[in-house]
Amino acid sequence: MSLVKMIDLPKLGDSRGQLVVLEENKEVPFNIKRVYYMYGAQSDIARGFHAHKELDQVAVCVAGKCKILLDDGINKDIVLLTDPARGVSISSMIWHEMHDFSENCVLLVLASDLYDEADYIRNYDEFLREINS
Ligand code: TYD
Repeated sequence: MSLVKMIDLPKLGDSRGQLVVLEENKEVPFNIKRVYYMYGAQSDIARGFHAHKELDQVAVCVAGKCKILLDDGINKDIVLLTDPARGVSISSMIWHEMHDFSENCVLLVLASDLYDEADYIRNYDEFLREINS
């Protein structure tokens, strides 16, 4: 079973260039309460390495590229994000890691809730225990 749920985003481009829209409860399957983005990452330094208990997210590489590893405790999938008009869903209780950032990568993330450190599981063994409990 693939963990990869890609989301095709509407491209409203014309001769002036592309315009991509993300709206809550449409392309993004939840109320968007927070938006954050990463840039200036180094290709040899990975990020993430956590799961969220409740939070759902959608990630879009709006510039450059990076890889996202998704892991539900049984299956692992790696998705290469290269297209500013394709997002990937990162649901709650999915361990995720971001790898191989290109120099120009800007990774935009839409989240279903405000930042809450208590929602993070940052230890992989604890993640497996939660999954199996
Ligand atoms: P973290 O989620 O650990 O980054 P990553 O998973 O990409 O490696 O966040 C890095 C730091 O930023 C951490 O101290 C928490 C803080 N942070 C916020 O304060 N608000 C936020 O919305 C996010 C995503 C992180």
